[in-house]
Amino acid sequence: MDQKVFEDVDRYISDLFIKPDEALAIAEQSHQLENLPPINVSPNQGKLLHLFAKLSKAKKILEVGTLAGYSTIWMAKALPEDGRLISLEIDPHHAEVAKKNIDRAGLSSKVEIRVGKAIDLLAQLVKDNTTPFDMIFIDADKPPYTEYFEWSLKLSRPGTLIIADNVIRDGKVLDKDHEDPMVKGAQRFNKALAANSHVSATILQTFGVKEYDGMAIAIVE
Ligand code: SAH
Ligand code: DHB
Ligand code: MG
Repeated sequence: MDQKVFEDVDRYISDLFIKPDEALAIAEQSHQLENLPPINVSPNQGKLLHLFAKLSKAKKILEVGTLAGYSTIWMAKALPEDGRLISLEIDPHHAEVAKKNIDRAGLSSKVEIRVGKAIDLLAQLVKDNTTPFDMIFIDADKPPYTEYFEWSLKLSRPGTLIIADNVIRDGKVLDKDHEDPMVKGAQRFNKALAANSHVSATILQTFGVKEYDGMAIAIVE
């Protein structure tokens, strides 16, 4: 099996299961048009996040790392009428592009983008004593993933679903001596997740139209 088959099958699945959606299509294109890195989740991964949000009956979702709001829109579309999503983003340009995309998707009343360093914004949410989130998607810079996860636990309740993207990095996590800080961040996070007695977790390998990677899936106990 080669990469081309994985890509073709990924498109075969999305053609079957994803209805054409103008707002999502424009959000996807905005990475190129607005000069953002094309590191959004793939369409099928977006659909998976959408299904996870529905499965967890999420009314309150937290996202760490907004970019153009592509994954944001997928998750927010799963929210009920009174549902809310807060997404944290350090780059004001990314946040601005995301706001436009979220507006276009008709989701601006449900989605709030907070601009700043994720660590500070997470600490502020804890300080504000916000009610726990039902689902948390971690997808910002990789080196502090373990810290994002620890803050996420403080913002959770038993049953909260925590998902972290990019934890396999093309299989590079197997190399204990890897120098890349993103790989090191994923290795440290995976180890901490596995050792944490407050969650039950696994990692789903992801491949297809995006680079071979993985998503950690954890439920708070
Ligand atoms: N979730 C998006 C992709 C996010 S890419 C999607 O799938 O569509 C990662 C994002 O995290 C980028 O927009 C980047 O600017 C942001 N980011 C990087 N470091 C950050 C930090 N320290 N705090 C908050 N956001 C950060
Ligand atoms: C990178 C970040 C992501 O969130 C992703 O899904 C793929 C790649 C990166 O920074 O390389
Ligand atoms: Mg990612």
